Amino acid sequence: MAHGFSDRSMREQQPLIKQYVDLLMAKLRQAEGKKVDLAAWYNYTTFDVIGDLAFGESFGCLEGGEYHPWVKAIFELARVGVVFQSLVHFPLIFKALLAVIPKSLMEEREKHYQMTLVKLKKRMEGGKDRSDLIEGLLKKADEWGLTLQKLQANSAILIIGGSETTATLLSGVTFLLMTNPDALKKLTAEVRGAFRSEDEIDFMSVSNLPYLLACLDEALRMYPPVPTGLPRVVPPPGASIAGHYVPGGTVVAVHQWAMYHNEENFKKPFEFHPERWLGDPEFASDRKDAFQPFHLGPRNCLGRNLAYIEMRLILARVLWNFDLRMDEDSADWMSKQRIYNLWEKGSLNAYLTPVQR
Ligand code: HEM
Repeated sequence: MAHGFSDRSMREQQPLIKQYVDLLMAKLRQAEGKKVDLAAWYNYTTFDVIGDLAFGESFGCLEGGEYHPWVKAIFELARVGVVFQSLVHFPLIFKALLAVIPKSLMEEREKHYQMTLVKLKKRMEGGKDRSDLIEGLLKKADEWGLTLQKLQANSAILIIGGSETTATLLSGVTFLLMTNPDALKKLTAEVRGAFRSEDEIDFMSVSNLPYLLACLDEALRMYPPVPTGLPRVVPPPGASIAGHYVPGGTVVAVHQWAMYHNEENFKKPFEFHPERWLGDPEFASDRKDAFQPFHLGPRNCLGRNLAYIEMRLILARVLWNFDLRMDEDSADWMSKQRIYNLWEKGSLNAYLTPVQR
């Protein structure tokens, strides 16, 4: 799959991604003066982008201004998935529960599987040569014996991994900026001072905005899209982890939210300070190597570069085009959320005023 994430592939994917960001801007312009749920619009955008990159067609969320049933089902299944994940540790209760799982839930799961299959088959009919995320797998499918089921599982993972996470961070950084006006002012000045026209905002140019990157990293620290710990199994014969002996077979994980809100790792952990990523001496004692929102090792995030590009591009375009003001009903947006592996974001409501030039 790494092929689809190479620099070359990403350059080729740029026009496709830009087309959805253009559509987002057009939709946000139409909402002038109205209350806008930014979390939903970010989700629509990233799901449409990744739908196209993994299935060859978008979900049409931006066009319709609502979630596609495939996307809706993901959120519902995520909640149930977490309950199952926890119950696995109690085998007797788990078995008993499996027997009484409502039929509707199983049907929902099957419906989702079938929907994915239809989309995948359509993409396969489009041929193997398309610079997207699934191209590499399709080319090797026969050689590696990748069944339709395996391809289906991989495209589903790409979509979940590559959409919700990026939209979550964009929502988080927007909330943190709206609640930290000095940072918002500084970032807006950086973005509006760096370009002569909106056309100049592209994959390459957004990489030259240091404060933008610092804001994204600070948001990743305060509001990591994968906030819990994902499991790893200690190999036999056991290992020494952080000075403790842990026997082989033990499931371990690093919980990101906890790690990033520990004062031993980050000074003033509950405050938004992008400056900590720009060498401010006040934060010299921060343990920056503790910051791994994309994880480490052979199973870390494949889409990291794509995520940074998308986040930089979308946030820069939003700030280039609009002045933001949060609606009062979203004042406790971040603190009231629950986590079911993913954040249950809820609406992030704001008013957008187009910038007059
Ligand atoms: C801010 C955005 C993102 C964050 C925070 C994030 C985070 C993560 C994390 C923590 C993992 C590791 C899972 C584990 O340890 O088992 C992961 C895996 C993965 N991510 Fe991302 N991700 C983001 C965006 C993306 C994007 C845009 C894509 C593109 C499709 C993507 C594709 C993947 C894939 C395919 C894996 C599985 C890698 C493997 O198992 O080898 N991610 N991501």
